[in-house]
Amino acid sequence: MTMLETGVLIVGSGPAGSSAAALLSTYGIDNTLVTRYRWLADTPRAHITNQRTMEVLRDLGLEEQAMLYATHQELMGNNVFCASLAGEELGRMRSWGNDPHSKARHLKASPTEMVDIPQDLLEPVLFGAAAKRGTKARLSTEYLSHIQDETGVTVTVRDRVLDQTFEIRAKYLIGADGGRSQVAQDIGLPMVGKMGVGGSMNITFKADLSRYVAHRPSVLYWVLQPGSDVGGIGMGLVRMVRPWDEWLIVWGYDIDQPPPEMTDDFARSVVHSLVGDDTIPVEITGYSTWTVNHMYAKRYSSGRVFCMGDAVHRHPPSNGLGSNTSIQDAFNLAWKLALVLNGAAGEKLLDSYNAERAPIGKQVVDRANKSIGETGPIFQALGLLSTKDVDQMRANMESRKRPDVEGRSRRKALRDAIAYKVYEFDAHGVEMNQRYQSSAVVSDGSAAPAFTQDPELIYQATTYPGARLPHVWLERSGRQVSTLDLVGQGRFTLLTGIGGDDWVAAAEALAAELGVPLTAVSIGPGRDYEDPFGDWANSSEIADGGCVLVRPDQFVAWRSMDTTADCQAALRTALRAVLSR
Ligand code: FDA
Repeated sequence: MTMLETGVLIVGSGPAGSSAAALLSTYGIDNTLVTRYRWLADTPRAHITNQRTMEVLRDLGLEEQAMLYATHQELMGNNVFCASLAGEELGRMRSWGNDPHSKARHLKASPTEMVDIPQDLLEPVLFGAAAKRGTKARLSTEYLSHIQDETGVTVTVRDRVLDQTFEIRAKYLIGADGGRSQVAQDIGLPMVGKMGVGGSMNITFKADLSRYVAHRPSVLYWVLQPGSDVGGIGMGLVRMVRPWDEWLIVWGYDIDQPPPEMTDDFARSVVHSLVGDDTIPVEITGYSTWTVNHMYAKRYSSGRVFCMGDAVHRHPPSNGLGSNTSIQDAFNLAWKLALVLNGAAGEKLLDSYNAERAPIGKQVVDRANKSIGETGPIFQALGLLSTKDVDQMRANMESRKRPDVEGRSRRKALRDAIAYKVYEFDAHGVEMNQRYQSSAVVSDGSAAPAFTQDPELIYQATTYPGARLPHVWLERSGRQVSTLDLVGQGRFTLLTGIGGDDWVAAAEALAAELGVPLTAVSIGPGRDYEDPFGDWANSSEIADGGCVLVRPDQFVAWRSMDTTADCQAALRTALRAVLSR
């Protein structure tokens, strides 16, 4: 039997697998990707693309290309609750960084913009970059099983075109094979939670709905229709795919019953009902059913096999975290594999992937499911939970228009309930406040800064080890450059300033001594980069002569508050710890 050899074998070409391949190829690591079907995602699926993910794309040099396919932030912002698109509106919430205060926080947090990119448009950007940069990509190739030993993993795959089975020998295997991951099952990852806690159907269609939506541009239009449900409460979601003529409807079904029979006529009737206008020409382009899951893995790896993405965190689309978290898993693991394969780091560095990403996966799964529950107060406020009588439900909804006590209290309850959905539709902290604790983060002896505002809502910048490097704009030769642009790209970066020359010398010496990619950058008047507004001085939390050591994934590995007597010894100790050497 023929045996293909590779450094890292990746199973799956979704957001996780494609970005892992793109990153590894960018870092110069030999890798192969196999994926079951003859092409990538064929439906829009995930779409909300948050700033942290855009930073990964920026690091990969793919931000501009992704923006070609993106619907920009200002068209994402009115989260509408209504009886139908053509019918009565119940309320709106400014979302996804479009509230002016939130917008300011977004602008301060990152050089990138949160956008909407349907998964079937984003995957080709990642996959294309991977293949172009060196990934040996094999479509129509299915993972079957693997055996691992001391030096590598032997994986059996099936070429679905030729119907032939062959083996691939890899040093490491990544299971990015989605919510029904065979790889995760084969390595027996400990899973917590439940699959199939709810049922949903997706209907994709084309229809020009500009007249109902262009004045309140949004990604999501929530339609509440008591009595018109399929075993649920009667809430449907009309999701923008492309403004304003491509759409996806998500409509719940009773998970205790078999999935409904889907036909074009049924799909069209759901579309017409949620749009509230039967005269609109509708072209149904597809439909499918899927289940809502609440499950995460407590550990992401076993030996030489690592899982990422939906393989280890399975949750509903609320908060739009699915593909974001998957891409960020890849950003965490790829540089570690690269350094271990290049001999610059010890194998124990790979354990930090579990320590850093598994808590994030749990947090994301719990948050996404909690957000579903937090829609309850909207139904409550409209009087939809206190009765099963559909006429009474409609009367209760109407009562919010009355000038009496009940009307006033319903109006207030509804406003409050919609405002509370900020935890789903504008949870900037959930997206940006990730902090790691692991062997790949070295304490500087100080206490972790407590969050001074709600950590789920408000991003709090810090250079505390384990946090993502704060973004501020610097300048060089009249050009604006983000601090995040100085770091990443597969190497460690040491940021210092005036009085930090010993750190720069130490970084140069240790890059050679340890064989690790490490560059030093000095910030301040007359240095490599100017800090014209003093933003770095105000946010770096170190003295000018101190340093911040930043990992290839833009997270702070270690920092020193000021210069020290022996910078080289201090930096060597920190680097050796981070690299498990
Ligand atoms: P993903 O599932 O994307 O990719 C898995 C890959 O592995 C695929 O390429 C698959 O072909 C491949 N594969 C699987 N088994 C294999 C095998 N044995 N051999 C080889 N290849 C194999 N999220 C959201 O935020 N909003 C939304 O609206 C939706 N909607 C939605 C609809 C549907 C129908 C699905 C299935 C999912 C969603 N999601 C979603 C979830 C979102 O799509 C999901 O979180 C990400 O795609 C996860 O990315 P991964 O790369 O981890 O898995």
